[in-house]
Amino acid sequence: MEINKGLENVYVKETSITYIDGELGRLYYRGYSIFDLAELSSFEETSYLIWYGKLPTQSQLDEFKKRLAEHRELPASIVDFLKKVRKDANPMDVLRTAVSMMGIEDNNKSESLLDKAISITAKIPTIISYYHRLRKNLDLVEPRNDLSHAENFLYMLNGNLPSEIERKVLDVALILHMDHEMNASTFACLVVASTLSDIYSAIVGGISALKGPLHGAANSEALKMFIEIGRVENVEEYILKRLENKQRIMGFGHRIYKTYDPRALILKKYAKDITRLKGLEELYKIAERVEQVGIKLLGSKGIYPNVDFYSGLVFYSLGFEPDFFPTVFTSARVVGWTAQIMEYLQDNRLIRPKAKYVGEIGKTYVPIHNRS
Ligand code: ACO
Repeated sequence: MEINKGLENVYVKETSITYIDGELGRLYYRGYSIFDLAELSSFEETSYLIWYGKLPTQSQLDEFKKRLAEHRELPASIVDFLKKVRKDANPMDVLRTAVSMMGIEDNNKSESLLDKAISITAKIPTIISYYHRLRKNLDLVEPRNDLSHAENFLYMLNGNLPSEIERKVLDVALILHMDHEMNASTFACLVVASTLSDIYSAIVGGISALKGPLHGAANSEALKMFIEIGRVENVEEYILKRLENKQRIMGFGHRIYKTYDPRALILKKYAKDITRLKGLEELYKIAERVEQVGIKLLGSKGIYPNVDFYSGLVFYSLGFEPDFFPTVFTSARVVGWTAQIMEYLQDNRLIRPKAKYVGEIGKTYVPIHNRS
């Protein structure tokens, strides 16, 4: 009886969505390299690729963009909830509850799973931006159908149209976060979906798993670390102390990548550009130094920067507050979650692993009044 702690090296399904080469540091969606998609594609085109399995023609893309944009508005009950919920809540808790409410609003509509996936994906940026602005006592900025997904997201968040570089940086960051094979949150979605529960419940499961600092919240933890370090000169001492205290370097290490995560490599370049533009170069320099020291100390164990190392710097520069970073991650990963759910359900089998029992059996039940 073999126990695979953390389900390491356990395969639960076949997939034609995402392939990771953890030794070489390569990532492919539907066979296309992440390096090409990040440079040449957009959120909408890559979502289409992931959901439909092929790149769209121009007319297919135009139609798809329109369809996605039409679903941006939130039901009144969710706007009401966002207005009433406490302002110091964890944004992932707020997002999780809002998606759950979407399920209630949906009330078993007979749309396809893909229709539901498109609707959830289109609405998540609105939920995030509305809660961000309500927390700051700012007026809500309603979604605009004539803007791309990334443009509209930043427009609703900051209240003005983003520059071309801001649009590009968000598009790239969203593409990079879109899918990642059988990570913890995707697996959580599949466990829920395999019981033939509904897609909203499955996504709530995914959000719950992504919220943890070992997964999707490592981005805000990494940025907090850079801010705490304060100056480039402090990096070495800070990291050594952190490792001595058995604390992890956030944004470092990965179950699959034993080299540089390609997503971190791509984000590094954009983080450099956008932090310079926003006057946050000092934070970038701290991050770069943490990277050097971290690789020197941990690289031999196959521990390198992962996607969360530089993404926080990018999200921060675009106007997101640190506790919102995992919600931005969610806004992209929901595409992968829903694609993986649909793929799994084509040949569903209830996910039900086993646990090896190591306790006693056959004990005598003692009535409560006789227990010492
Ligand atoms: N800093 C320092 N040491 C580390 C780190 C790190 N970031 N990551 C792993 N290690 C060490 C562990 O201490 C352990 O050392 P030991 O064998 O001497 O005890 C060894 O590497 C193996 O660690 P595990 O936790 O067993 O490895 P696993 O594959 O389960 O971990 C994980 C992957 C959870 C991502 C880990 O690297 C980590 O905690 N990183 C920091 C959090 C983070 O950045 N998470 C985001 C991951 S990417 C994503 O989810 C989107």
